[in-house]
Order: sequence, then structure tokens, then C-alpha cells
Amino acid sequence: MTKSSTPDAPTPKLNEHSLSDVRKTATLIDNLTGIRFELPLIDGTLGPKVIDIRKLYTDSGYFTYDPAFMSTASCDSKITFIDGDQGILLHRGYPIDELAEKSDFLEVAYLLLHGELPKASEKQTFERNITYHTMLHEQVHEFFRGFRRDSHPMAVLCGAVGALSSFYHDSLDIHDPQQREIASHRLIAKMPTLAAMAYKYSVGQPFVYPRNDLSYSSNFLNMMFSVPAEKYKINPVLAKAMDRILILHADHEQNASTSTVRMAGSSGANPFACIAAGIASLWGPAHGGANEAVILMLKEIGHKNNIPEFIKMVKDKNAGVKLMGFGHRVYKNYDPRATVMRRSCHEVLDELGIKNEPLLEMAMELERIALEDEYFIERKLYPNVDFYSGIILRAMGIPTSMFTVIFAIARTVGWISQWKEMIEEPGQKISRPRQLYSGAPKRKYVPLHKR
Ligand code: CMC
Repeated sequence: MTKSSTPDAPTPKLNEHSLSDVRKTATLIDNLTGIRFELPLIDGTLGPKVIDIRKLYTDSGYFTYDPAFMSTASCDSKITFIDGDQGILLHRGYPIDELAEKSDFLEVAYLLLHGELPKASEKQTFERNITYHTMLHEQVHEFFRGFRRDSHPMAVLCGAVGALSSFYHDSLDIHDPQQREIASHRLIAKMPTLAAMAYKYSVGQPFVYPRNDLSYSSNFLNMMFSVPAEKYKINPVLAKAMDRILILHADHEQNASTSTVRMAGSSGANPFACIAAGIASLWGPAHGGANEAVILMLKEIGHKNNIPEFIKMVKDKNAGVKLMGFGHRVYKNYDPRATVMRRSCHEVLDELGIKNEPLLEMAMELERIALEDEYFIERKLYPNVDFYSGIILRAMGIPTSMFTVIFAIARTVGWISQWKEMIEEPGQKISRPRQLYSGAPKRKYVPLHKR
């Protein structure tokens, strides 16, 4: 960035640049002093240009102000691209609907981590690496027993994943690429085991050990639903649907939980602790907690006939009610993941022979009414991925409290890929945002007896 001139100066320094350079800068003019600052513009492969403000403070003494990151690119990433206006989501360049249809979760995990689709031998090795890390240190079972049985499984997952750093000391050195890789495999592999354990613990059933002969999704279903007393038969349609749900949630650019993981990791914290931080952020109802909130909302509405009254409440700012599963910070169009999820939802209900599922009927009616309503049209509010995912999961027999946990299983791949990308960046620095301070100016301490 260059400071260029005051209005009184005869020729702005801008002219020192060649014409092509000028096109690659944006000019910030301080109207108080008249000083102009040339800020470089950087092109990505896709998406808007960014204004490089890294040197703005050093050169001008100003910070930028963007509290909820409405216009801020917080990093340079090659993993996921979203065009919110067009409703496009690409992982390493591949459209999400193609991946959901043609790929499988572990292949997508490899793609996110390594940048390319694996060759057959690479896929086999990767699957083997993940499969052979699915078991947990036996002591983790004892650790689990410290939780209350009625804990929310996200509370258990958050604590248990954080605790993994106390079990796997041999993969905590983030400067060793091999240890980073082992930690990544461990996290991807152990997350379904921990998630299923959180469920089993809450219903008082024995933990089920992972089975390495099963696919990632089938193994998870088996750990969730099998019991020692009888054989559990995995329905391949449900395993496929679970796999698709995982693909659709695998990564989503710099969302709140991913940014949390990057921020935590920027200080050099170990990956288990960073992913625990991501889980905490995901838990909120504005983020991963929305799939659970959609079902609670549909139950509260209770009947199709009550929808118009509910919509009225959503539009009333004083009521503080949101239409859960609708709206997105980035998508101002149909969330491409919701399109796949909607289709998948019908497939699963057909397979299970569930006809006239009242929650699905209500969801479809709610969607129809909302999409025709001026309030939602004006604000570009469309269904997001979570609008339909809860209905599928519920039909599969997954309890509502486990919905966000399943989101966390999937997103672990995105978190760990983004963490890896950040750690491997040359010159990586700790993230340290600044602030607009609006508190009290410097003042003298007042002793207690004088207050
Ligand atoms: N229902 C009703 N009004 C809404 C909704 C909604 N779901 N979402 C946004 N609005 C309104 C909002 O009140 C505001 O209105 P106004 O301009 O009159 O003040 C306008 O639309 C813009 O919304 P915003 O709150 O500025 O948007 P945001 O980008 O800050 O929030 C969001 C995005 C996802 C947090 C929000 O849309 C929301 O709370 N949706 C419901 C929760 C949900 O489904 N979350 C899952 C997101 S997808 C999964 C994930 O990525 O985790």
C-alpha cells in the first residue's frame, strides 16, 4: 500500500503507477486530511476481488471495522468456493451436487484434505488409514462415565474431543507433517465412534466397538443402533443417505466454526483442542444447531393450518421468532445443498415406506408459503441445508439431539482440511483482530470509600 498525496499537492502519486497497476489498486481518500492511500487489489480464481488492507494500519494509522465479517476475506484458501447469489458450492472446483451424487464421504474427505480426487490406490490407502484409527483408547470409556447421562451429546462431544489431546500425545506436534496427518486421520476416524458413544451413553446401552469391515457411514449406523442382544441389519439406502448427509456438510468455506478452528489453531494449539473449539461454535442455533431447531419449530407449529399464524409471528420483529432452516449469510438464493437434501428426503421416506409424514408435509407447505411471501422474497431468504436434513435424520431413527453431532462428524473433515491449509501456509501468523474501542477513556482509580 502506498500513501499518495494531499489535495494540495499538484500531482497525485497515483501517477507513479503504470496504467495496468492503477487498475489493480483501489484508492482510499481520507477526507479529513486529503491523503490518498493506494490499496492493492487481488484477484482470486473465482469470486470478488479483495482489497489488500494488510498494511493499512502501518501506513495510515486506521483500522477497518467489520464486526461480523460482512465484507472481510479472513484468509486465502483453495478448498471451497461459494457464490451465494448464484447458489453455487464447489469443493476443490467440483460442484457439490455432483459429489453428492457420484462420490462418497471418504473420497470427498481426501479431496478436501489433499486437493485432488484420489486415484484407486490412494483411495484404498486413505480408507484403510481412517478405518484403522476408528477405535478409541480404552481409557476414553472411563472418561465418558464422568458425564451425566442426560447431557446434551454436543456437550459430551465437545468435552471428549478436547480430551483426545490427553490421550494421543504422539500426534500433537503441529510442526511435524507426519504427526499432523496422523492427528487428522484420528479425528476423522474417531468422531463417529465418539458420537455413537455419546448416544449410547444417553440411553444407557453398552458402547458398540467400530467395525473395520464396514463403510464409514454403515459403521456409524451400526455403532448407533446395534445392541449385543440381537443382530442389526444395515439398510444400504439409509447408509447411502447418511453418506450423502455427511458429504453435504463436509465443508463450507469460512463459516463461524471453521473460522473458530483457524483462529484457535493460529496460536499453535493442537488439532484436537482446535476441533473441540469448532464443535463449541457449531453448537449454536444460528449455525449447526439449526437442524435440531427446525424439528422443534415444526413440532411447535403442530399442524399445517397453524402455518399462516406462525409466518405472521416470524415477520413480527417484536416476536423474536425466526423461520429456522431459512436464510443464510452467504446464500441469497436456494442453498445448493438444500436441493440435494430435499430430493434425498423423499428417497428415504419412500424407502422406509413412510407416507404422509406430517413434519415433511408441514415443511413443504412452510417452504411453499415462505417462498411466495414478500418478506422472504425481499430479504432473499431461501431454505438452507438444515431445512430438510432433520426430517431425513428423524425418519432414520436418529434422535433430535444427535442432529448437530452428525453435522460435527461431517464438518470435522472441513475443519481439519482448513486447519492443515493454514498451518502449511508460509509465514503463518497468529490471528489477532483489533477493535473499535468505545469504552471509557483513561481515568483514575476511585477508592472504594469514595464511590
Ligand atoms: N427468519 C426470519 N427472518 C430472517 C431469517 C429467518 N430465518 N433469517 C434472516 N431474517 C431476516 C432478518 O431478521 C433481517 O431482517 P431485517 O433486514 O428486516 O432486519 C434480514 O432477514 C437479514 O438477516 P440477517 O440476520 O442480517 O442475516 P445474517 O446473515 O446475519 O444471518 C442466519 C444468517 C443464517 C444466521 C439467519 O438467516 C438465521 O438465523 N437463520 C435461521 C437459522 C438457520 O437456519 N441457520 C442455519 C444456517 S445453514 C447451516 C450452517 O451453515 O450452519
